[in-house]
Amino acid sequence: MTSDLETDPVMQARMSIDQLAPSERSAEQMRARFLAFAETECHGYAPFYEGLSEAVASDFKVLDIARQCNRGQPIPNLFFAAVHYLLLEEISHPLAQQFSSIESEKSVAAEIFSEYKTFCTQRQDSLVEMLSFKRVQTNVVGRCSYLMPAFGIVSNHANGRLLGLIDVGASAGLNLNWDWYHYSYSNGREFGSSDARVRLECEIIGQQFPGLREHFPQVSSRVGIDMNPIDLSKPVDLLWSRALIWPEHPRRARVFEAAATVLADNPPALFAGDALDLLPGILETVRDDSAPCVFHCHTLNQFTPQARESFRDIIEAASADRTVYLVSAESGTLVVSRCDSGVWSVIANANCDPHGRWVEWFEGV
Ligand SMILES: C[S@@+](CC[C@H](N)C(=O)[O-])C[C@H]1O[C@@H](n2cnc3c(N)ncnc32)[C@H](O)[C@@H]1O
Repeated sequence: MTSDLETDPVMQARMSIDQLAPSERSAEQMRARFLAFAETECHGYAPFYEGLSEAVASDFKVLDIARQCNRGQPIPNLFFAAVHYLLLEEISHPLAQQFSSIESEKSVAAEIFSEYKTFCTQRQDSLVEMLSFKRVQTNVVGRCSYLMPAFGIVSNHANGRLLGLIDVGASAGLNLNWDWYHYSYSNGREFGSSDARVRLECEIIGQQFPGLREHFPQVSSRVGIDMNPIDLSKPVDLLWSRALIWPEHPRRARVFEAAATVLADNPPALFAGDALDLLPGILETVRDDSAPCVFHCHTLNQFTPQARESFRDIIEAASADRTVYLVSAESGTLVVSRCDSGVWSVIANANCDPHGRWVEWFEGV
């Protein structure tokens, strides 16, 4: 089974420079990377970051700082988050004041770029240090808008058995608490408690929608794995998570903060380490009366191709004894599949907005 990451040419080009060591990245590659980010990830969604990314692409000094992002990380995301972090730390700085209520306009980026560049060059040492070890660990709660139906589909296939959920690349673990949230879809379907603290809205494109039960499936265990789990009770981790939310998206910041309060009351088990090392053992802990369901959102793009193969091998090995379900959400494609004795079959798939603003389900759900 090949993953979409292996067949998507945009992702391939993007990841190839991200996977290089800083010293191996040319200025031209860096420039192309920021222009591609503006076009494919910001256009139509984040005009301010689109303009900022284009401005960075044409400035060799700022590009040279961004070049220091550690290998394997999505370069523009990490660079913008590091600058945003320093601005959140220095909230009285005039640029920080502007960022705190920045207009989602492309022209604003051109207006502030000179000040932005000065800020970056003055804090170059701090920035380069952060870029050398920080990771893009954005925990996007909006992704639950497609995860929740995916878990419903898995539950239907597993005849309503309890779910043993394992989130690979869980970050702070906010998406493991998906059943504490309320969901409103543009087709009028609503799920979850009406007094939920986190309220998600999602547009449904097309006519298809999964046949979900009214009540959420029961979960017997929920475990997150992350190379570096984010601990939202630590101020540094909380600030880094806030910095990863793009400044022109205040609604996302509000949803994040609400989900953080749910997490403080309901912390899932989070394990630190490489998923390739931890997943086999954690799969074994899923109760016999439960269906193991592994999921990952925007995580496998941080794996090498070889690591992605090993990841699938682990699931295939675990499926020798019982069916293992996999919900994969990467690069705008959601695939719900099952693995039985090493044989994969796709149960459902959809196109989805990377932040869960819309989903387009395909026939058969
Ligand atoms: C972009 S974040 C996505 C977080 C979350 N899945 C979401 O969608 O909100 C990717 C996460 O994957 C983690 N990660 C990357 N490679 C990993 C690996 N080999 N094992 C465990 N975690 C990994 C990173 O540390 C990061 O927290």
